Amino acid sequence: MSPETPSQQTVRFGSNAGQPLTRRDGVAKVTGRATYAADNHPDGMLHAVAAVSKIARGRVTFLDVEAAKAHPGVVEVLTPSNRLTLSHDPNDKMPPFGFRVEVLQDDTVRYANQPIAMVVAETLEAAIEGAALLNPRYEAEPARTTLENGLNFDPASVGVGAPPRTAYGDVEAGLAGAAKVVEVDYVTPPQYHNAMEPHAVVAEWDGDRLMLDMPNQALAMSCASYAAYFGIPASNVTIRSPYLGGGFGSKAIINGPQILAIMAARMLRRPVKLALPRAQMYGPVGHRGRTWQKLRLGMDDAGHLTALHHRSISATSSFDDFLEPAANASLPLYASPAILAEHKGLRLDTGTPGPMRAPGEASGSAALEVAMDEAADACGMDPLAFRLANYAETEPGSEKPFSSKALRDCYEQGAERFGWSSRPLAPRQMRDEDGFLVGWGMGTAVFPCPQFPASGRATLRADGTALVETAGADMGQGAWTALAQVAAEALGLDPEKVELHSGVSTLPDGGVAGGSAHTASAGLALHNAGAEVIRELSELATADAASPLFGAGNIGVVARAGRLHRRDDESRSESYADILARAGRRELVGKAKAARDPADAAAHAMYSHGAVFAEVKVDPDLGQIRTTRLVGAFAAGRIINPRLARSQYFGGMIWGISFALLEEAIADERTGRIMNADLAEYHVPVNADVPRLDAIMVPEEDAFVNPLGIKGVGEIGVTGTVGAIANAVWHATGVRVRRFPIRIENLI
Ligand code: MOS
Repeated sequence: MSPETPSQQTVRFGSNAGQPLTRRDGVAKVTGRATYAADNHPDGMLHAVAAVSKIARGRVTFLDVEAAKAHPGVVEVLTPSNRLTLSHDPNDKMPPFGFRVEVLQDDTVRYANQPIAMVVAETLEAAIEGAALLNPRYEAEPARTTLENGLNFDPASVGVGAPPRTAYGDVEAGLAGAAKVVEVDYVTPPQYHNAMEPHAVVAEWDGDRLMLDMPNQALAMSCASYAAYFGIPASNVTIRSPYLGGGFGSKAIINGPQILAIMAARMLRRPVKLALPRAQMYGPVGHRGRTWQKLRLGMDDAGHLTALHHRSISATSSFDDFLEPAANASLPLYASPAILAEHKGLRLDTGTPGPMRAPGEASGSAALEVAMDEAADACGMDPLAFRLANYAETEPGSEKPFSSKALRDCYEQGAERFGWSSRPLAPRQMRDEDGFLVGWGMGTAVFPCPQFPASGRATLRADGTALVETAGADMGQGAWTALAQVAAEALGLDPEKVELHSGVSTLPDGGVAGGSAHTASAGLALHNAGAEVIRELSELATADAASPLFGAGNIGVVARAGRLHRRDDESRSESYADILARAGRRELVGKAKAARDPADAAAHAMYSHGAVFAEVKVDPDLGQIRTTRLVGAFAAGRIINPRLARSQYFGGMIWGISFALLEEAIADERTGRIMNADLAEYHVPVNADVPRLDAIMVPEEDAFVNPLGIKGVGEIGVTGTVGAIANAVWHATGVRVRRFPIRIENLI
């Protein structure tokens, strides 16, 4: 099957879409030539292995450091008694994201899999054996892992990390005056990022300079954080992160094991490599926190919302404050005279959660979209008709206009492609030829469009090719390709004439590869840098009497396919190479910064939108659920590369299958340890779980998000999809499951 013509997966390219080029790094990745962080082995390198706690709460009372150090390969064992003191107190939150790290501060254990020592050895085997020889003893206290035994707290009591309470109108009055009220609770589980490439670092010190090979979504920010911990200037830290095997948010955050490896390299004056084993990904490097969500919806006789109250109890760790901002999902989407979104905190003996694949939006949308389905059912309305009845023409509460919102088109095109109009209203009405129950459900997708400040550099070379540079990260989404396309457009060059350098922190800061904002953020910086080069080139040409463009300065020139053309007479043109040669220039360099216009940001609400339609089949005897069809229609501004955007939409929709039916980390309540901390038992979708996927790119132009009209496509696919699948399960079976993932045992 050729990747050009997938047999089952179709896509329609919107009129505002660019070329569907294949990934630049694809061949290197599939042939094994791409070097990931852990592939770097500098001379004299040592191997580090973290010893992690087997209890979730208590103290470490004994570590057999002597036994470990007696191992012939072991060089050092880092424990709370000999570790370096960091320049930034690890108990203090590190701005801007505000996370604490666990770096052997003391003998306290706060979660299972917390690092309690780090063994450094000449070989990986010796380090593993050394860690095993530590034979820790503990004083254990009961682990708190449930809603019942966790500690409640008010998020207003913490600073960074807690979502605000947002209220418009009078929710209680809206509910009191409603013709129908739906009040429902949903539970979403702890989920772990599980990027294919676990966290890794190779740290090498040269005096006070630090070289780090590590997968990283936030290069500049991370350099600043590491510099603060080790008391050196940020410019002394270089992070090389050319390839990432997935990030999902966890690689934007500093974590304890990586800092310990850097510390070991400093103490021992040798390079140190740490590659976390899969099991150690379940604890110290973030996860999506569990939520208990309550929604209360009031509707009038015509099915209009009179009130929308969304409360999430979001779990965090005992020692930090990141709360999944799930209730915020109810703020931007449906019109209601009263909306209240609020969060409560619950402290559990787990590692600290953090941003993961649409943090807040995914869990919140799962609950909201099922609640909307339940509300539609209570009103006797079709779920799509119910959503259209509550369509927000302006942002609820703020009443700001949307910078663009082609959601109606998404509903229409998605429903049409799916065949939604023939859906029976009542559940349990459809069967396939094998007797399986068939159900159809839908959900609305929405995701904000942040844009991070970013910088870029463009260099036009004498041969008419260009180099563009920005310190971004390609986690697999295709950034190298899409960013080169954006730059090529500004430079008036074919993309193959544009080389892109990225993935190392010494380049201009490309911002964070997160928040679905990388293409917009780094893209605009490269666009501006390219435009700067073309401006300089135009000045050279139009001021040169020997150029066919001489004197066209006021008329203007057009850059296309490596030539500048007079705007008023495009037959008069000259190649970039000729202009540079005559001017005696080896190259032209343009540097630029980019950020969202604050006035545009203040005046508009900015979101990508979409509609997802799902078909499931359920075995009536066994309760086994299969997603058989997913159609997503998304409007996300201008699409730079429809092939890559389609992959992002598919990826997000597959996360949705995963959230709805598969993913859950299960803690043993007696010990607080996660029982399924591996890819055999922590379920993620495999090919057989992924049905026919269809992503429609709904054309949308946006004049306000940024001058390029680029929104974001990375995370929106999961929103809408989870609810669509859950609603389809209800439609197939008549059983409303209010916990995720939906399991066989919930249906029979
Ligand atoms: Mo993400 S959770 O925006 O990397």
